[in-house]
Amino acid sequence: MPRIGHDSVVMVTGGAGFIGSAVVRHILDYMAAHVINVDKLTYAADPSATSQASFNSRYRFEHVDICDGSELRRVYRTYKPHVVLNLAAETHVDRSIDGPSEFVRTNLVGSFTLLEETLRYWRGLGAVSRSEFRFLHVSTDEVFGTLSADGMFTEDTPYAPNSPYSATKAGSDHLVRAWHQTYHLPTIITNCSNNYGPYQFPEKLIPHMVLRALGEEKLPVYGDGAQVRDWLYVEDHVCALILAAQNGVPGATYNIGGHSERTNRAVVETICDLLDALSPREGGSYHDLIEYVAERAGHDRRYAIDSTKIETDLGWRPSESFESGLKKTINWYLKNKAWCDGVRQRGYRPVRIGLGNP
Ligand SMILES: NC(=O)c1ccc[n+]([C@@H]2O[C@H](COP(=O)([O-])OP(=O)(O)OC[C@H]3O[C@@H](n4cnc5c(N)ncnc54)[C@H](O)[C@@H]3O)[C@@H](O)[C@H]2O)c1
Repeated sequence: MPRIGHDSVVMVTGGAGFIGSAVVRHILDYMAAHVINVDKLTYAADPSATSQASFNSRYRFEHVDICDGSELRRVYRTYKPHVVLNLAAETHVDRSIDGPSEFVRTNLVGSFTLLEETLRYWRGLGAVSRSEFRFLHVSTDEVFGTLSADGMFTEDTPYAPNSPYSATKAGSDHLVRAWHQTYHLPTIITNCSNNYGPYQFPEKLIPHMVLRALGEEKLPVYGDGAQVRDWLYVEDHVCALILAAQNGVPGATYNIGGHSERTNRAVVETICDLLDALSPREGGSYHDLIEYVAERAGHDRRYAIDSTKIETDLGWRPSESFESGLKKTINWYLKNKAWCDGVRQRGYRPVRIGLGNP
């Protein structure tokens, strides 16, 4: 029987966020399972990203903080999930530099609390349900630190987080690993590269640049713009998470990347090329808006993911190239101008943050 079948209940934490909402939409659109979205609704949450879901009888929303053990216990008792996908987190590196405490609270204490309540629930299940249950923890390639010009992160790369964000994600990965090793909770960890796509909060590089460009604002590139990231279209990440939850081996970790290494400068230039073609400016090219500003503190130079394991063991492949995924994304922003205007009211700070003065 498939692990996420007809009567399965999938609990998604952080399901109102950028990637979590894409997971919710994917399950409701392409699978028959029920979805419980557990989210605290921070500034990063976007209820409009799951607005269609609220009409679906297979969907429930629970306004719950993953640091709240008794509420999590109630959610487990009420819905009896078969699979948990943990995406709830504080996620923006610049914010973690200015105010790390929320990151420690949600990413470390929240993950710990969720693990405690998951273990309590899992221990109360019958033998078959216990063996079929999965807890998938969604993490990042940033836990591995930075690379020089060569090499890639594999599942065996030692952790060396450099920002408060990546340090708390690394800590949560270690907790998840320990709950498997010590208590045999069937956990899986995925470490993914930078995502982009519809509904991403505009503090992240790609929507930040697209929205500023459309607003005729300067496009600030940190440092020399030569930092390299490996980009993945969000729907490709979602497919990888579903595959890992269905067929991944408990205790295993899987790296997920898009084979799309680009410098930040190249990303911004490609955005400008696409906007010049899709929505030309009256006063010249979008390239004229690019400016170079002070470097981010502790900015990692290069990330690159070797995703051979998930490709070989689980048969996953990204379906979008960087250019095709970016074109889809920019078209989505252009068609959803009302969303672009609305998101600026939701705590998006157009000023520079993360300069290392907490
Ligand atoms: N965005 C990326 O490029 C990327 C890449 C790799 C891994 N990840 C990981 O994927 C996950 C999701 O990332 P995202 O970009 O969708 O994040 P996001 O910031 O868009 O959304 C995070 C969601 O978590 C919720 N949340 C925050 N604190 C919570 C709490 N205490 N209790 C319950 N809910 C809470 C927020 O309300 C929000 O809806 C994170 O764990 C992140 O580390 C993200």
